[in-house]
Amino acid sequence: MPNVNADRLLGDLDALRAIGAQGPGVVRPAFSAKDMEARRWLARKFEDAGLEATIDGVGNVFGRSRNAGRALLIGSHSDTQPTGGWLDGALGVVYALEVVRALADDPATAQHAVDAISFQDEESRFVGCLGSRSFVGTLPPEQEAAAIDRDGVSLGDALAAAGLAERPRLRADAQRYAGFLEAHIEQGPQLEDDAKRIGVVTTIVGVRGLRVVFRGQQNHAGTTMMARRRDAAAALFDFAAAVNREFPRVAAARSVWTMGRVQLVPNATSIVPGYAELDLQFRDADEAVLDRFAGLAERLVAEANARGGVMLELQRSRAPIAPTEMDAALRRHLAAAAERHAPGQWLVMPSGAFHDAGIVSARLPAAMLFIPSIGGISHDFAEDSRREDIVLGCRVLADAAASILIGSDPFLGSDPIVMNGGHHLSKRGSDPERV
Ligand code: GLV
Ligand code: MN
Ligand code: MN
Repeated sequence: MPNVNADRLLGDLDALRAIGAQGPGVVRPAFSAKDMEARRWLARKFEDAGLEATIDGVGNVFGRSRNAGRALLIGSHSDTQPTGGWLDGALGVVYALEVVRALADDPATAQHAVDAISFQDEESRFVGCLGSRSFVGTLPPEQEAAAIDRDGVSLGDALAAAGLAERPRLRADAQRYAGFLEAHIEQGPQLEDDAKRIGVVTTIVGVRGLRVVFRGQQNHAGTTMMARRRDAAAALFDFAAAVNREFPRVAAARSVWTMGRVQLVPNATSIVPGYAELDLQFRDADEAVLDRFAGLAERLVAEANARGGVMLELQRSRAPIAPTEMDAALRRHLAAAAERHAPGQWLVMPSGAFHDAGIVSARLPAAMLFIPSIGGISHDFAEDSRREDIVLGCRVLADAAASILIGSDPFLGSDPIVMNGGHHLSKRGSDPERV
């Protein structure tokens, strides 16, 4: 079994955390100086681990194994939210580095090929999962050309400023890979609530984002009588209330929606706002539910426009992400490794966050493993996980990687999970189809 070095793993996570650290959190948005410093640091770490490292033309850091044969790709992202936590993405990237080293140190796996990757802009500064979309070839040039961040900076300018514009882009070679594994913090409360330490992901949520633009008439806040106003902010508040009233009527059990960004123009206390924007994001694992939300948003806009005054316009605010299912065979390897290292302390679960693994699954078999997030907090400086769970997650991932590469059947041998003809996994995972 590969021997994960806990001190080396935690030391590297702490070193990466220091790049862009702000208090307990990290500020390392895609293509920022700190993000690029972290990517150069990772490339050096990949080289030290024996990989051939490159930073490609979109900012992906790729470490290619020098070993022959079918390879496993492992990784996540190292960019962060504008105010991000230290583990979101970084965990999976440093796990990849440690798994490469642990498998290289073990004679049973030393000849196998493990590639490591840190994808660029998973956190949607320009295009959510930009790096993985580029890697698997699902980034249309027109989408790239239109991409701007929330300050109006274009993706093209950011690539040029980071010195990447002329670099070639890497493309996944599907023939090379047995699959892709991504480990991540859960970013929610389920593992902690159920007193479990490992999650094996079944599905990754789909995401859509709409921008509602409100056009009214800017005017004086003292002299414009209420009946005469065309107040863009009032229309925005009405629309938001209608979303919160109507969306539950078409929602599924795990549907979520967020109005996380608004803009009022000119945003001054003595001016009736003449212009406003509201970003509405919704998520579900079922495309049909996303369609229902989209249809409802269109209806609410049409109804508001029929009432008149402020006029509303619906735009697409983000590149949609389709719901995806994780690969059943890879999931079984993760589940079997989880049972070996944490018997009875793991479960199968859906992901409410989106991940590069969902994008990569369009081209390669992909699977994901979660470790618990303390208090279920993420996308916040307070994000954290117990160090014991961080180390355990890496052991499970390394063990699963080894069994995938060696080609062993996760349900054979002396595993404690081999019961009922090899299909009984655990209390929560007793149905192999659900693993
Ligand atoms: C990923 O960062 C997400 O917002 O789910
Ligand atoms: Mn992430
Ligand atoms: Mn994130």
